This record gives sequence, structure tokens and C-alpha cells, in this order.
Amino acid sequence: SDDPLVIFTPSGKRGRFPVGTPVLTAARQLGVDLDSVCGGRGICSKCQITPGYGEFSKHGVTVEADALSEWNSVEARYDEKRGLKAGRRLGCQATVLKDVIIDVPAESQVHKQVVRKRAEVRAITLNPSTKLFYVDVQQPDMHDPSGDLERLRKALLEQWEMDDVTADLHILHVMQKVLRKGDWKVTVAVHLGDNEHKPRIMHIWPGFYDGTIYGVAVDLGSTTIAAHLCDLQTGDVVASSGVMNPQIRFGEDLMSRVSYSMMNDRGAEEMTLAVREGMCGLFTQLASEAGIDKQLIVDAVFVCNPVMHHLFLGIDPFELGQAPFALATSNALRLRGRDLDLNIHESARVYFLPCIAGHVGADAAAVALSESPHLSDDLVLVVDVGTNAEILLGNKEKVLACSSPTGPAFEGAQISSGQRAAPGAIERVEIDPVSKLPRFKVIGSDLWSDEDGFDAAIAQTGVTGICGSGIIEMVAEMRMHGIVDAPGLIGTAEQTGSAAVFADGRTNSYRVYDGTAEGGPMITVTNRDIREIQMAKAALYSGARLLMDKFGVDKVDRVVLAGAFGAHISTKHAMVIGMIPDAPLDKVTSAGNAAGTGARIALLNREARIEIEEIVRNIHKIETAIEPRFQEHFVNASAMPNAVEPFPILNS
Ligand code: FES
Repeated sequence: SDDPLVIFTPSGKRGRFPVGTPVLTAARQLGVDLDSVCGGRGICSKCQITPGYGEFSKHGVTVEADALSEWNSVEARYDEKRGLKAGRRLGCQATVLKDVIIDVPAESQVHKQVVRKRAEVRAITLNPSTKLFYVDVQQPDMHDPSGDLERLRKALLEQWEMDDVTADLHILHVMQKVLRKGDWKVTVAVHLGDNEHKPRIMHIWPGFYDGTIYGVAVDLGSTTIAAHLCDLQTGDVVASSGVMNPQIRFGEDLMSRVSYSMMNDRGAEEMTLAVREGMCGLFTQLASEAGIDKQLIVDAVFVCNPVMHHLFLGIDPFELGQAPFALATSNALRLRGRDLDLNIHESARVYFLPCIAGHVGADAAAVALSESPHLSDDLVLVVDVGTNAEILLGNKEKVLACSSPTGPAFEGAQISSGQRAAPGAIERVEIDPVSKLPRFKVIGSDLWSDEDGFDAAIAQTGVTGICGSGIIEMVAEMRMHGIVDAPGLIGTAEQTGSAAVFADGRTNSYRVYDGTAEGGPMITVTNRDIREIQMAKAALYSGARLLMDKFGVDKVDRVVLAGAFGAHISTKHAMVIGMIPDAPLDKVTSAGNAAGTGARIALLNREARIEIEEIVRNIHKIETAIEPRFQEHFVNASAMPNAVEPFPILNS
């Protein structure tokens, strides 16, 4: 035909449209991703586009300067009020006159890509569960006696092709006033529904609502609760915060909390109350940090281990404390904020990722979503290090999962001078190859403890203990410099040639720092400490090794360390002690809080929820406790790096 050709970039979608067709209409017909909240009424400005002029050899077209209509009064008014960037047009106002190439800038795309800090992982595409829609509702009429909600539904169907929308009672409470206040024009936030629910009106504003709505992605850990508050229209994180899990007062680790619930009538209930209170406190904190009203938080996603999952939901975790560790449910959950006494929007939707198994929770599912082993060509081992290590191994073919009881040693617990990562904790260690004496760096100071920096470092923070990543480096350095042998025994001062070694009862210990002269602590590594680290790392390694057996491989292509701990750990030192399988060091990366990232993906992209449910259904769960090979691997892995398995890459 002779109709002008319209080509959209970056999608490359094209078609011919009659002169006078609005760009937004052309975009919709071609399925081009161009945003609109007001439905083309020139109010929301979400539909901005940039026409290109000149020769486009790639597309074989020349675009004349008058390919689109000129600014109309709507754009002029908008420009006066808000300013329209040079070269921009509103897609709903500009109409096609001649052949044209039209660029849709990133911020005008509905399904924008959300920036992730790590380039090597999949991008997040914005596609939230709740969106804003502006509608023009027909006024009531004596001749057409229908309810206001029915006419609002009709408007949503006609103007947005949205079928079968429902509304909670609280919407009916306010809807009639809002409709009239807005002169029959309203903005609604609609939860778009999913496989269990119909689309639902969450909130209604008179006229065009110029603000935004928010969601929160929560990683509910046994020690800390961390959350990101996200703008659901841009995908941006607008505030991040964390609090201690108030349940700590009932027990430091998970099993002590399970036993608290077993030994106390209403113990589980008390813990549920505590964690929900903590959660509300965290939401208040996030909202005030971002300067927003909590009632604008309409969506929440939670990831957590199975015990936290049950306690937060108000389910007694009793069964998780004993074999065969049956969950109340492993499926994903779709609930309402008020089911959990959350202080966010009263209709807020809540989504829990599925759990993988009794020991492998929704947090591991979130790690799987973030790191996507199921999309990987190469074989990737993902380890989330905590008191229970959750381990995934897989590629496009299949994904296996298990958990392994590493215990709290990697968090500095059960280590004589151990402590949590906090200012004053030794986090980096180096042993001099000649003197065999240590130098170290503490959290909160950039200085290493040598002649120049030592006093200054201590003056800044003091030295209070060794944290998890510090103890791993410590043990690895001791192993590398012959102070401790492969089975894990610290030699004598004579055998090792180190003046830092001293006899300590029936074994030997290694002095890291002696602050006693100044009234400070004496920090040592005892042979028991080494033993604790050996047990913890052996548990982690044998879990990974068991999955490798099941996969039928004896090496992996890549290792990803997830979790706060994984972010701080030195991969070289972890490999020296045989905590992770032998792999090229540049193929061992840290993913930071991958569980938190997975929660954010599920918050920002509704399809990712369906995807993770599908992935989890297909993950093969391996129960380490009933695998005889696990014990065998564990015994071998107690040595450093390993009693039987060579570490050829490490040793090369
Ligand atoms: Fe809202 Fe164009 S679609 S201003």
C-alpha cells in the first residue's frame, strides 16, 4: 500500500499505517513495548518517543523532518508544565504523516530492563504484578441502572482489555466518592491476577494519579531480615534496610528455635508475633527512608528458610525438627498482607517463593532464580553458605539440590576467638613465609597490622576477635605455611619454625594477636578451632561432592558463592582448605545476597514467579542424611584440602 511505513527501534518492529495514525496506536498494533498509564489521553507522559530524521541505511529509508505531525496543544501544555526533553514527542499525540523511524527510549518501555550490578547474570525485565490504569467511567443514568463498580469494570474492559476484574469491600467503601470527585475519571491500581486469582482493584484515586506504587522484597533470615523497597513503575530500589530478627532472643540458631517451640506452650506463637513485629518495624523504616506512605506498598515477596517460613506464617515448625522433615506446604503461597498482620496497604498481595525441600527453603529457590543454573550452558555449583549450606548443581539439562549442616563456625561461632563480622573483627590474614608470624586487617580499618599501620588500626577500631572469613584465611594460611598439617594438627614451635606457636594443654595453639599488655584480648587459633572449621568445610564440600556424584561428574565449570559470607570470603583460601571443589580461581565468583536478588526478581516480574515454581518442581532433591556416600566424602574432606581427592588446579 501507499500508507507510510513506521519502524520502531530498538525492537525493529514495522508496519504501514494510514496518515494520521497516532504513534501509540501503531505501537500497540505492532506489539511494541510503549508504556501508557492514561490510555493515550496526554496526561501520564509515559508514552514519550524520539522520532529520527535523516537517512537510515540499515532500514533503507529516508525520514523527512515532517514525518510526524507537529506538537499539538496537549504537548505544548505538557511542556509548559513539566518540560518535554528536546526531540521528544508524546506517542499518543504525535501522528504519522510519512515514512518514519521512531525510537522508544528505555524509560518509555513497559518491560524495561532493570540494572543489575553483576554483568554476568541474566537481566531483570520489569513486569510487575500490580500496575496503574487511568480510566474514563461512564456516568450513571436513569435509563441504564447499573452499579458504579459495573461501569468501572466495563471501562477497564473497553479501555484496557481487562476482563473479569474484582474489588475488595474496602474499594466499595470509597469508590463512589472517588468517582465523583474525579469527575468520572479515576486511576486504579490493579493486581493483574495469576493462576489462582482474578485481576483485583487494589486502590482507586480520583483523576490522574501522578505518583507511583511500591513493592517490597524481603529476605527473612534467622539472624537478620533484609529488604529492598522498589518502585513498581521503574523497578528502582528506592530504599534498602535490615534489622536483626527479633526471634534471636528465643534461640540463636534454627534448631534452638524449633526446640523452643517444642518446649513452650505457645512458643511458636510468641516467635510468630516477634518476627511479624520486626517486619512491621522494618517496613516503617523503609518507608520513612524513602519518604513515602506505607499504604503505597501494594506487593511483597518473601524468601526464607523452611523454619522461618513456618514461623512467619504462624505454622508450628515442629515437623521440621524431626525426620522426615515434612513441610506444611512446599508450594508457592499467594496471600494478603493482612493475613500476616503487615502494616502495608490493606489489600497488599504477598508472595512466598516455593520451598525446595524440608531443609532447602524458599531462600534457595530465590538463589536458583537469581543465578539461574537451569539456563546455564556450563555446569555451575551454587553454594549459599550459612549455618545450613544450601547447594545447587546444574545446567540446562537438570538441577540438583541438597543442604548440608555446616553449623555456625563460618559465622565465627564455636571458635575460641570467633565473632560475628563487625568492626574490630579480623577479616584478612597473611602469614609471613619466613618469620611465620601473622599480619592482619580488621573490619573498619584499611590498615594492615604491620609496623606502620598496626597502632593506627587498633586505635581506630580495636581488635576484638576473628570473623568467619578471617578464620578461613587464618586456617588456610596456617596450612600453606606448614603450621598445620593436612589432617589438621598444629605442629610445635620447633616443627613449624614459628614463634607464634605455643603449647596449649595437650595440643598447640597459634597466637594471632596479644593485646593483654594494654588490657586487650589475646587472640589465638586453637587446635579445636581448626577442628571446627574442618567439620564445617567437610560438610559443605561433601554436600557439593555428593551432588557431583549424582550428576556423574568429577569437576564443575563454575562455582558461585552466595550469601553475605560468600561475598567476603577469599576464594583462594576457601580452596586451599578444600571447602569448595577444585576449579580455576577466576571461575569462582561471589553473588552477594543472591536470595535477596531472587526475591527482587519475583517482585518485579510476575512471570518469574511462574518460572521459579516450574524450576523448583523440576529440581532433584538429594537428602544428604540418607546417602551413605555422604559420610565417606565427609571423612575424606576433613583433611585439608582432602585426604583422597587431588586438587590439580589449586596445586598448579
Ligand atoms: Fe499517557 Fe500519552 S499515553 S500521555
